[in-house]
Amino acid sequence: MGVVAERMSSMKQMADSMKTVGEMLAGRQDFDATTARAGVAALHENCHQAREQFSSATKDHPSRASPMVWEKADEFKDEMERFDAAVKALVAASEAGNLDGMKVPFKDVGQSCSSCHQKFRLPE
Ligand code: HEC
Repeated sequence: MGVVAERMSSMKQMADSMKTVGEMLAGRQDFDATTARAGVAALHENCHQAREQFSSATKDHPSRASPMVWEKADEFKDEMERFDAAVKALVAASEAGNLDGMKVPFKDVGQSCSSCHQKFRLPE
């Protein structure tokens, strides 16, 4: 699998993890601390993979990554770092196994996803 396909797959897996955890936090699924922890841990792992998957070697591949990813590399890196910090806070909250304690960090993670997408992802 090429690196562009890999990063799309990492992003999709992150979306799946967010969905699993989000459903529990919204009360649409029963809260299960083990599943929540596993979902958040998977998110964290994919987040680290994603950080490595935007190398400039992929700049000219067709994808939804905006040219800004490489033109504004420092800003993109900042987004990734803010995102990683948000995910880490969610990991810490999930390890405490407390549903209410995860709500705010979960929202922060969701906002990091959107913030980066607004700036660095092209429309479909
Ligand atoms: C630092 C920037 C950044 C962060 C943070 C980020 N994304 Fe993305 N995301 C992108 C970019 C850029 C693309 C387009 C990648 C491509 O087309 O190769 C993308 C693509 C996607 C896609 C589409 C994948 C596809 O198959 O086309 C999904 C789904 C997605 N992201 C989900 C998420 C979720 C959920 C989060 C948060 C948990 C997140 N992303 C966090 C930058 C980010």
